[in-house]
Amino acid sequence: MSIKSSNTVWHPTVITRQDRENLNGHQSLILWFTGLSGSGKSTMMHAVEELLHQKGMRTFTLDGDNVRHGLCADLGFSEKDRQENIRRIGEVTKLCTEAGLIVLAAFISPFIRDRQRVRNLASPGDFLEIYCRCSLDVCETRDTKGLYRRARAGEIKDFTGISSPYEEPVQPELILETGVASIAQCAQQVVDMVMQRALLYQSESFDK
Ligand code: ADX
Repeated sequence: MSIKSSNTVWHPTVITRQDRENLNGHQSLILWFTGLSGSGKSTMMHAVEELLHQKGMRTFTLDGDNVRHGLCADLGFSEKDRQENIRRIGEVTKLCTEAGLIVLAAFISPFIRDRQRVRNLASPGDFLEIYCRCSLDVCETRDTKGLYRRARAGEIKDFTGISSPYEEPVQPELILETGVASIAQCAQQVVDMVMQRALLYQSESFDK
């Protein structure tokens, strides 16, 4: 995106991302959970955060529904608004990696192009796309928020999976079968991936 405020100069920080990572003992990462509404993204994200936090890792979570109460309260669900939603979250996740965090983000993020933009914005290797694969049937049967029923009744427009598309990830770093596997099983898969990628040194507190 082009910058409107052209008379600004980037000021380098004294303490760098590397300094923060060294202090934490682990690398920063972006764990990006994508999938249909009701596919278990938020549940997975919180289960994974709990496990990482117990290991003494520095984490932070960003949740689609919550962010839309504040930072993205001005956005709806048109293709353009979802694009802007994901762009903003992408920028926030990048800031979180500068802060030395393992940031977990759960957003439907239905468009390949938007997710790719976040990947491109991140430093190489930071962005890990985690596809919470769950059939529309299962999501709709769960209908934890009652939104599918309302979308079918025509009360909610542009609803992902019903009246707005979901583009499946082509080469995600991880696929979780959230429609069939248990929360604990899926969460462990994510933690295993994080442990392979994020550790800077072996510390007892990070043991599996
Ligand atoms: S995204 O498409 O822009 O990534 P986001 O993850 O922020 O979506 O928000 C999705 C959440 O908003 C859903 O879990 C659901 O609770 C709610 N929601 C409300 N309207 C819609 C809609 N039209 N499509 C999808 N989700 C919706």
